[in-house]
Formats: sequence, C-alpha cells, structure tokens
Amino acid sequence: MAKDKTVYTCTECGGITPKWQGKCPNCGAWNTLVEGVAEAPGANRNRFASLAPPSEVAVLADIEAADVARTPTGIEELDRVLGGGIVEGGVVLIGGDPGIGKSTLLLQALDGLQRAGVPTLYVTGEESGAQVALRSRRLGLDRSQVKVLAEIQLEKIQATIAAQQPAVAVIDSIQTVYSDQLTSAPGSVAQVRECAAHLTRAAKAGGTTIILVGHVTKEGALAGPRVLEHMVDTVLYFEGDTHSSFRLVRAIKNRFGAVNEIGVFAMTERGLKGVANPSAIFLSQHSEPVPGSCVLVTLEGTRPLLVEIQALVDSGGPSPRRLSVGLERDRLAMLLAVLHRHAGVACLDQDVFVNAVGGVRISEPAADLAVMLAIASSLRGRALPRGFIAFGEVGLAGEVRPAPRGQERLREAAKLGFSIAIVPKANAPKGGRAAGRELEGLAIHPVERIEEALEVVRSLA
Ligand code: TYD
Ligand code: MG
Repeated sequence: MAKDKTVYTCTECGGITPKWQGKCPNCGAWNTLVEGVAEAPGANRNRFASLAPPSEVAVLADIEAADVARTPTGIEELDRVLGGGIVEGGVVLIGGDPGIGKSTLLLQALDGLQRAGVPTLYVTGEESGAQVALRSRRLGLDRSQVKVLAEIQLEKIQATIAAQQPAVAVIDSIQTVYSDQLTSAPGSVAQVRECAAHLTRAAKAGGTTIILVGHVTKEGALAGPRVLEHMVDTVLYFEGDTHSSFRLVRAIKNRFGAVNEIGVFAMTERGLKGVANPSAIFLSQHSEPVPGSCVLVTLEGTRPLLVEIQALVDSGGPSPRRLSVGLERDRLAMLLAVLHRHAGVACLDQDVFVNAVGGVRISEPAADLAVMLAIASSLRGRALPRGFIAFGEVGLAGEVRPAPRGQERLREAAKLGFSIAIVPKANAPKGGRAAGRELEGLAIHPVERIEEALEVVRSLA
C-alpha cells in the first residue's frame, strides 16, 4: 500500500491541493487551507466503513429500536448530564478552563467504574504517571486499579486500546496527541481533527467509550476546529469560577440524552462532590439589599437555579463600555435600547457592566427582565426590595414574554423564602385579583410590559 501523504484541504470549499498556499486555488478564499492526510487509493472508500457498516434499506417501523445500554459512572451529577451514564462506543468531549477540574472528575469517574468491574484506561499526555498517582492519593482513591498510560502518540495509544480493550478510555487531552502521519505540531487544527477522527472510528469499531478532554481558548471555544464538536456524540462544558468552589458541567450536545442538562459539583479537598440540591448556591449574601442586584430564577435542564444578576452603571468616557460576564453582550446592547425606548431609562453615555454571580453562563432569554431591573436599580441607586426575584423574556417592542415552566420557578423561589416576584402575566397563577396573587408566601406581580415592571418596582419602594 502506498504511504499516506500530506495534502491541504480548504475549509471553505473542501478543495484539495498538494501544496500549502495563502489562497485556495479552487474558491479563492484566504487562509482556509488546513493540513490533512491523503489516504492511499482505495482507502478512502472504507474511511467511514466502521462508522456505519453496510446495511440494507429498511422501513423505519420494521427496525427494532434497541435502547442504548448505559453504564452509570456512579457519579450521579455526571450521569445526569450524560443522560444516564456512558454509552458503549460513544465519544464524549469534555471542555473547560485549565484547573477547573476536568482531570479530577474523570479520574474519579474511572476509579468508580473500575471498582464496579468496568475495565478502564486513562491516557495522560499532560502529566506523568507519578503525577496522576499523586492526584489519586489526594483524592483518597486507595489502591486504584485504573490503568494509566503516559503517551501522546496516536498510533501507540490506538495500539494500547486495541490490546487492552478497555470499556472506557480517557484521553487527557486531545490537544497533546499527535499522529506521525502529519508534520504539523501537536495541538494544531490538523492534528486535533485527525487524531480525534481516528479515535472516534476506533471507538465505534471496538465498542470502547472514549472521553476526550479538550482545552478551551481565551474566547471560550474549544481549541481546535468546530468539527470536533460535530464528530463526537456528546459535548460537555465545565463552567464556574476557579475562585469559587462550585463547578457546573453542562451538556451542550448529546445524541444520547437531553441537552442543557447540568451537573453541579463542589470542589473539596477530596475532589469533586456532587451537589444534589443546587438551587441556592449562586446567591451572594448581602445583609441589606444593594442597588444593582436582582435575583433571577433560571431553569437549567430539569432543575431551577437562583442566580444573582449584578449590574453597575457608571458615568463613562466618550465611548461608553458595555461588558457582560456570563450573559450575552449583544443581548445586553439590545436590552439597553429597549430600556431607553420603552421605559425612558437612558444609559447612553454610561458604562454598563453586568455579571452573573458564581461564573454561571446564562443563555436563556428569560434572564432579560432581571438584567433590566438590575440595570435600572443601579442607575437610580435604589435597591430592589428584600426577597425579590424576577424572570421573563423582554421583546424589542417592550413586551414581557412568558418563560417556560414558570410555576416551577415560582415554587422554587417560594421554597427558598423569597417574598416578592415580578413575572410575565402568563406565568402568574391564574385567578384572583392581579395584585393579590400569592404562592406559598411569595407575592406575585404579573406584568405585560417593561415599563409596567419598573412601575411596580417604584410602587414597592
Ligand atoms: P484539574 O482537575 O487538574 O483541572 P483540569 O484538568 O481541568 O486542568 O485541577 C483542578 C484544581 O482543583 C487544581 O487546581 C487543584 C484543585 N484540587 C482540589 O481542590 N482538590 C482535589 O482533591 C484535587 C485533586 C484538586
Ligand atoms: Mg488536566
């Protein structure tokens, strides 16, 4: 068989050239050529053979729908985001900032699986075997039988997986793995993509579950091509502040379960411990209510979470800044425009900073109302009432739209002792006078428009 040789593929048009050039000769796009391997003639046809074995065309109703078999890792919060456990031949990508706890969590998971009789392999490219051993001692994993391989060369890793036949293999991290077939450096787009593709194929063919650890760039995306996310079955992200002890693991893609499900952990001296009842962990403790702070009830996966949203509005320079941590910045700009246009709250010449406490990332639009009330509160220098919560999406026309599963959010807030809520009208309990609605000690003020919400806040003061 002829030896594979290096070619360059355009990420725009998919055209292939033998030499690297700044401009793609096929479509004319700049800087789109990425190194890859040209396989020997004939090899290409079989490239995806192991991914989908040849089969007959069948009618959907006649195909027996086998439920995927899952093996729980024994770490309940991790199993929750995985959709019940690991799946045979499944490939999981887990990303997050350095030092957030990826290696810790996976070592704990592998040890649990190994103790349950599931053969495991931990491939480390970042630490030596001794360092991994040291960590396992710190975690209190006495006499752990997890097999460890300190290796970064793809071909050797594959050979070990083929020889050992583990049910689960962790590759920590995919950015350190390199293949001899490519000349580019480990961690480059070409290497990461090619190595992940080979490992994915091996997983599907051999029935091994592969967990790839991925680094995250400063911009918050997984380093390496987006295609990595497309290749795997499940993508998990670690979130949270490395300064606080709480960590969130979120599923952003899952072929075997629900997305946006979260697992919540606390980092302790003995590793990550699941937090079964996390609804109140993202509230900061103020003895007196402070301006610019509003508690949001957000629904992450199946569980409601109460998160404090903080805003600071301060006189800015000639070009005022809009910064947000944990919330979308584009959305912030839009909410400021809506506040100005529909409620007469002008922050045009002011710096506006918004922060979701605890390093949580909030992507649901139901955060809008809390963000706007926090901004208005900071601008006026007036705190919202004690025990106050809000949620609801705000549209460009100033209308307040309902959030999914409002009743559940209200019940959780009532359970935690909150006493006043401003919520979209459709989310308020039905019946009774509008101003007199109550749920287990939580007074509910339904609103239909943003200016109405600000009016209610003024009347409560
Ligand atoms: P680590 O799991 O190595 O993070 P990653 O693989 O995502 O880079 O480290 C997590 C951090 O947690 C590290 O700074 C040390 C700390 N830590 C604890 O607080 N308790 C522990 O039991 C362990 C093992 C680590
Ligand atoms: Mg690590």
